[in-house]
Amino acid sequence: MTAFEQEPLSRSPRKLIVTGGAGFIGSNFVHHWCQKYPGDRVVVLDALTYAGNRNNLAELEGKANLRFVQGDICDRTLIDGLLQEERIDTIAHFAAESHVDRSILGPGAFVQTNVVGTFTLLEAFRHHWQDAGKPASYRFHHVSTDEVYGSLEATDPAFSETTPYAPNSPYSASKAGSDHLVRAYHHTYGMPTLMTNCSNNYGPYHFPEKLIPLMCINILMGKPLPVYGDGQNIRDWLYVGDHCSALDAVIHQGTPGETYNIGGNNEVKNIDLVTMLCELMNELAPDLPVRPAQKLITFVKDRPGHDRRYAIDATKIQTELGWTPAETIEGGLRRTVEWYLTHREWWQPLLSEEYQAYYRQVYA
Ligand code: NAD
Ligand code: DAU
Repeated sequence: MTAFEQEPLSRSPRKLIVTGGAGFIGSNFVHHWCQKYPGDRVVVLDALTYAGNRNNLAELEGKANLRFVQGDICDRTLIDGLLQEERIDTIAHFAAESHVDRSILGPGAFVQTNVVGTFTLLEAFRHHWQDAGKPASYRFHHVSTDEVYGSLEATDPAFSETTPYAPNSPYSASKAGSDHLVRAYHHTYGMPTLMTNCSNNYGPYHFPEKLIPLMCINILMGKPLPVYGDGQNIRDWLYVGDHCSALDAVIHQGTPGETYNIGGNNEVKNIDLVTMLCELMNELAPDLPVRPAQKLITFVKDRPGHDRRYAIDATKIQTELGWTPAETIEGGLRRTVEWYLTHREWWQPLLSEEYQAYYRQVYA
């Protein structure tokens, strides 16, 4: 058991809104929080876009302290009402358009949700916090990404909290815009904000169009495994449970106004990651249509503007808050492959006509 799996001895219950709590990381966070802090009130606010899924929270249905609200973070009236009615003291803000490939196809939704939506939440929370007399215990936690820092060359040092912003995709540019607003709300109004910039996550409830679930599902279906470009792009992978424990540490112990980078110290080339997934599937799935699964690897046209390398320097959160990831890449990938093998009823309905249309558009 790590330090973050133990509930602190003296702790006042919190009343949270978790935006995007029906998405991949948000739902893992809701599971983490409800299990660890059963006395807290958790209100999930999620618009249920293509990426949102109430089934991600199915195991928590019926819990008295959990409320689900379908709604948009751009809806100020709705947010004002929830903040007051639920006497919220903490926002954990995950809601976003999160997929780089979709941001290339249609950037508008990214600016709307990621920039306007975050602004709407900040404004609502600022008034709520000011009206309550600016309690020191309130927190606005903004969940962001390492992509705001741009792309690294092979020998560059990893991203630290002081690396200049250089976003390259409409997705990362919209996240950078939201990060700047969060920073400004602390600097100008003294609002107790917290921000984290995290590397690539993987684990349960990851929507099928992202790299790891897409590869797992295509292997099971005997479909080609589309590797962009030369497959040499590097990502720094973090098991989603470790991201949740880091967010927990920052919400409880982080200094308002500060940013913390979160990463797994697991830099892997895409082609090596896909090969590891193939090997795990060869071992764990008895009925593969194509074996060995490596035969399915297909190099396809590169993503426009594809960032070459991401890597996170997580020294600050490790030294100041004592957080370190618990999962290794080998262990985390094995758990993840096992989860996709035993949760077909979760992912099969997500391969909808809308998903197929998206797939044809990107991989045609
Ligand atoms: P996701 O796409 O799986 O989930 C996003 C959720 O937000 C969905 O449930 C969706 O319905 C909801 N949502 C979208 N627009 C909304 C709106 N206007 N109002 C209310 N809800 C809305 O995303 P994810 O991968 O879970 O990422 C969550 C957050 O973490 C994002 O802010 C993302 O930028 C950040 N992040 C993700 C990763 C990663 O590897 N996935 C890494 C670092 C940071
Ligand atoms: O770095 C954090 C970011 O990680 C988050 O902010 C984003 O929300 C999240 O989606 C993720 O972005 P990436 O673009 O890195 O993730 P994705 O799973 O789309 O792709 C991972 C890598 O794999 C990337 O280099 C592109 C490549 N790729 C992806 C897909 C979907 C392929 O080679 N083939 C594919 O089919």
